[in-house]
Amino acid sequence: MRVTPWEVKEELTDSLYKKLVKEFGIKPIDQEVIERIKKHTKEIHFMLRRKIFFAHRDLLWLLDEHEKGNRFFLYTGRAPDGPIHIGHLVPWIFTKWLQEKFNVELWFQFPDEEKFLFKQVSFDETKKWTRENMLDVIALGFKENKTHFLVDTKHANLMYKEACKVAKHITFSTVKAVFGFTNEANIGMIFYTAMQAVPAFLPSILKNKNMPCLIPLGVDQDPHFRIARDVLPKLGFYKPALIHAKFMPGLKGTKTKMSSSDVNSTIWLTDSDEEVRRKIIKHAFSGGRGSLEEHKKLGGIPAIDVSYQWLYYLFEPDDKKIREIYESYKSGALSTIELKEYLIKKIITFLHQHRKKRKKAEKKLNKFIF
Ligand code: TYM
Repeated sequence: MRVTPWEVKEELTDSLYKKLVKEFGIKPIDQEVIERIKKHTKEIHFMLRRKIFFAHRDLLWLLDEHEKGNRFFLYTGRAPDGPIHIGHLVPWIFTKWLQEKFNVELWFQFPDEEKFLFKQVSFDETKKWTRENMLDVIALGFKENKTHFLVDTKHANLMYKEACKVAKHITFSTVKAVFGFTNEANIGMIFYTAMQAVPAFLPSILKNKNMPCLIPLGVDQDPHFRIARDVLPKLGFYKPALIHAKFMPGLKGTKTKMSSSDVNSTIWLTDSDEEVRRKIIKHAFSGGRGSLEEHKKLGGIPAIDVSYQWLYYLFEPDDKKIREIYESYKSGALSTIELKEYLIKKIITFLHQHRKKRKKAEKKLNKFIF
């Protein structure tokens, strides 16, 4: 299975997600899970209704604990190496909803050594992107007094000792098996997963109380926490619970992942209106037909249409509207260009609002850094 935190070489299909459930040993999100969440949240986020968050580990256990009064905290993260793309927003927008509905703390890790170790990125660059990415995260609206940013190099004094405790329980053969490392991997890569485990139990140490942890994440990050879930009980902490998102597809096609390493697959939050328009009109793979006449006759194919999928994943949360778009595109009444224009307007509106909030975030930055 070629799905690791550093590369996703599989085609994104329903059968891939089924395979991931089986091979990773994660549980599909079913009606029971949804009802249990709804008990607390009253409404259900569209990413859950649409099974964009499609799998979990130990979520029912976490809710049991929460109901007994053992409140959980949230943990997620971003390895800074460039601007944020719209795919990154999938786990974060959902995390924000969870924070709001459960009124819990969020620990947000910026492992600023990760891309230095794994890619050709300097520490000067990761420093710059840490700050830039933080502003985007704050702009999404996380609670100021309940959100704590951890930066691996800045908080090394707090984190390194804990990472060593984790590392002592992980062998080289384990990381080789889990991540597919060869003997050519540098030793920073081999150690790194121990740092990503730390925020899953650091709050328990700081509060001197064992607290359940829930990690919303893209499913590519699961391998890190498979290891962490083995190790943490040995250190006296709970296994972190996880909730996994599917991948938002890239511009080139619904079977491809939007990824920072493929600059032609993404819309960045820094893209201008013209750039957004150009990318979508020119490059977003379309499920429309060759000519308008043919399209009217045969109808489009939403399942392979990137514009439709982006609306479904992120930009059209209204179920009734997305259903109407689906029907009218499929029947041929809605043309490809009309669908693209609808999406462009949604994205541009979002980006304008985001930039305003991001400007205001500058003043709050220090309050978020732990
Ligand atoms: P990073 O910076 O590569 O990505 C940040 C988060 O975005 C998710 N993601 C996506 N989700 C949906 N569709 C996509 N196309 C897409 N591309 C990226 C990633 O899965 C991730 O959740 N090592 C991590 C940083 C990290 C972390 C964590 C992530 C540290 N601690 C705890 C999750 C939970 C990384 O490189 O993420």
